Amino acid sequence: MHVLVTGGAGFIGSHLVERLLDEDHRVTIIDNLDPFYDSSVKCRNLSRVKDHPQFTWLETDIRESDCAENVSGEIDAIVHIAARAGVRPSIEDPLGYYQTNVQGTLHMLEFARRRSIGQFIFASSSSVYGVNPKVPWTESDEGLQPISPYAATKLSCEGLGHVYSRLHGIRFIGLRFFTVYGPRQRPDLAIHKFARKILAGESIPFFGDGSTRRDYTFVRDIVDGLLAAIDYQGAAFEILNLGNNRTVSLMEMVQGLENALGQKALIDNQPEQPGDVPQTWADVAKAERLLNYSPKTPFEQGIAEFAQWIQKRG
Ligand SMILES: NC(=O)c1ccc[n+]([C@@H]2O[C@H](COP(=O)([O-])OP(=O)(O)OC[C@H]3O[C@@H](n4cnc5c(N)ncnc54)[C@H](O)[C@@H]3O)[C@@H](O)[C@H]2O)c1
Repeated sequence: MHVLVTGGAGFIGSHLVERLLDEDHRVTIIDNLDPFYDSSVKCRNLSRVKDHPQFTWLETDIRESDCAENVSGEIDAIVHIAARAGVRPSIEDPLGYYQTNVQGTLHMLEFARRRSIGQFIFASSSSVYGVNPKVPWTESDEGLQPISPYAATKLSCEGLGHVYSRLHGIRFIGLRFFTVYGPRQRPDLAIHKFARKILAGESIPFFGDGSTRRDYTFVRDIVDGLLAAIDYQGAAFEILNLGNNRTVSLMEMVQGLENALGQKALIDNQPEQPGDVPQTWADVAKAERLLNYSPKTPFEQGIAEFAQWIQKRG
């Protein structure tokens, strides 16, 4: 198979690229090394694959409509992962998020239409559920009301995906990821940020009273879901949760990190953050049924792997 992965130099994308190449597929990535975080980190993410004969990297920008024109040969599936990620910065730059996330997705869908690519996997987000008191969240929950520009862009992209599946017969599978963590995690995400501060002996910003809960999903489990979605041959449009189906409080997350790193955290209490939701919790029954998805990594194990990685990296 030839798979086009956008955002292939990022945290989740680079793990997917490695797995696809290990399974003997041809992989082309589009990634412009967006400056949201240090581009040298992204280059390092690709260090194991960059010289692989089945691997090609186009350093182009999905905000340009012709970003994929130079991809040669037949493409069997697009996995569209590139985006401006992160809830809080989207409040400062809603237009920038709109351009990369919504316009960029439209460009990739148009490319799929022009090149008759029948399988389109989209990296959506649990944030589309907004403040939904009914937990765990299921894909059939109605009246989704996102509370950040980032979340609104992801929900818009799911809508665009529906349009392209109906009008152009492109199978669109939107995967709603629930807080993904593991080696190479984005440096702006809490687990990574906290770990660096704990190791440096600095205090960590602790938002609210520590009772907010997240369904943390280990990156290897997310990649399992992505690979299954690439092979999925069912309905033309599906939205699926990829979570761990277990929630961990902020307090428990910090304690888990302390145990894994063998170092105590200094806490700097801060008020709750606008745009943050009190809890996320995935019902993964649909992904289990359609993709045979079954998250295998308990938080304690995943956080230990993450801690090992960050300690080795220094
Ligand atoms: N990490 C999570 O917890 C999480 C949760 C829910 C959804 N997601 C979604 O999963 C995807 C990957 O997240 P991640 O954590 O790996 O983020 P990441 O920032 O590490 O990866 C995104 C990649 O996209 C690239 N990119 C950004 N703008 C681009 C553009 N204009 N043109 C080409 N490439 C561009 C970046 O350079 C980066 O390598 C994103 O779509 C994100 O919204 C992530």
